[in-house]
Amino acid sequence: MSSGTASKREKVILAYSGGLDTSVMVKWIGERYNLDVVAFTVDLGQGEDIAKIRDKALRTGAVDAVAIDARNLFVDCFVFPALMAGALYEGKYPLATALGRPLIAKLMVDTAREHGAKAVAHGCTGKGNDQVRFDVTFQTLAPDLQIIAPVREWKMSRPEALEYAAKHGIPVEATVESPYSIDQNLFGRSCESGLLEDPWDEPPADAFAWTVDPLKAPDQPQYLTIDFDGGKPVALDGKPMDGVPLIEKLNQLGGAHGVGRIDHVENRLVGIKSRELYEAPGAVILHEAHRELESLCLSKQAQRFKTLVSQEYADIIYNGLWFSAFHQDLFAFVASNQRYVTGQVRVKLFKGNCVVVGRKSEYSLYSKHLATYDRDDQFDHDAAKGFIRIHGLTQQTQAHTQLLKGGKGFDLPGLLTERRKEDS
Ligand code: ARG
Repeated sequence: MSSGTASKREKVILAYSGGLDTSVMVKWIGERYNLDVVAFTVDLGQGEDIAKIRDKALRTGAVDAVAIDARNLFVDCFVFPALMAGALYEGKYPLATALGRPLIAKLMVDTAREHGAKAVAHGCTGKGNDQVRFDVTFQTLAPDLQIIAPVREWKMSRPEALEYAAKHGIPVEATVESPYSIDQNLFGRSCESGLLEDPWDEPPADAFAWTVDPLKAPDQPQYLTIDFDGGKPVALDGKPMDGVPLIEKLNQLGGAHGVGRIDHVENRLVGIKSRELYEAPGAVILHEAHRELESLCLSKQAQRFKTLVSQEYADIIYNGLWFSAFHQDLFAFVASNQRYVTGQVRVKLFKGNCVVVGRKSEYSLYSKHLATYDRDDQFDHDAAKGFIRIHGLTQQTQAHTQLLKGGKGFDLPGLLTERRKEDS
């Protein structure tokens, strides 16, 4: 039984942020669907006081309000697997928002079970990826729960929502409306719409919140050493650290040097291209460092194959298919592939750049004795000759019997098209 209400209405668990839309929803869902709203708020490191948000939910008319700190779970079970996988959507976006959604949805399902709720609700619009990630997770983990997405149906403008709030005594903070749509968690900040909608326009200064303008970053570089164990970061500058404080620290250090700004025209799952601005200093530093350590610890084949896995893994996350068997299969590969990715990376932060300047590992496949041009070189130079003969054999045979037959010269690729035109 929830806190003190004698209500006989059925319940809905609402993903509650404390903002205007989800506050209006508390009342609106009650009226439209005749349900009692249990507000659900989770701390994924977005830097908000979830106890305050919980209080606001209760003042707004929720019959109960749940606030959960899931930062450790988020990092250990979502962020770090994605980092180990090298998952960057379209090679750029570290997926902060996309990683948060399946976790929020799962915790909402758990909460729905605890409260015997019959529905879940979220404040996503009908043209983004986030609605997909929520709904697919709900459908997968709890197909019996009804899904309510008020913004998809109510078609209220902001002034209308404000009017609705005033009429129903819903507390609204007198904040200036941000011109952007923003989502943030420990792994990054996503910013879209407003002045960002023209991909030709440089993002205005007010679109950034986590990073300084690289022009205003310190004139002295900052060096960091990050330790990885089995593909996971475990220490900063020699000091063992848990994931949450480690990423917080990297966000702060990277942000101070203007590191982690990503301007991305991305392909949404729902078929539109969208210009997004991300700030993810910690994510950028960790992905750079991790990839460089892999260059020491993975074989050539493992590295190449891993790039395919990284792309597939990023798509799974972006497209909201976290709770799939295919994801489990891919993670099994990643976990195995990462077992020797242990060592240290030295990173330099300077004026918006994050550059890896050193790496070492007890499992390094880099051999100085093989690479060196010095006297202690152990590479077998004589073996190279036979290797090259065999390596080039197919091409040599082809030239002889096809390409150079009849004394023709070799058609350079660029010239080939010209000649075709002349021939026709
Ligand atoms: N485009 C990004 C994604 O799909 C970020 C979405 C952020 N959401 C927001 N309300 N601003 O993951």
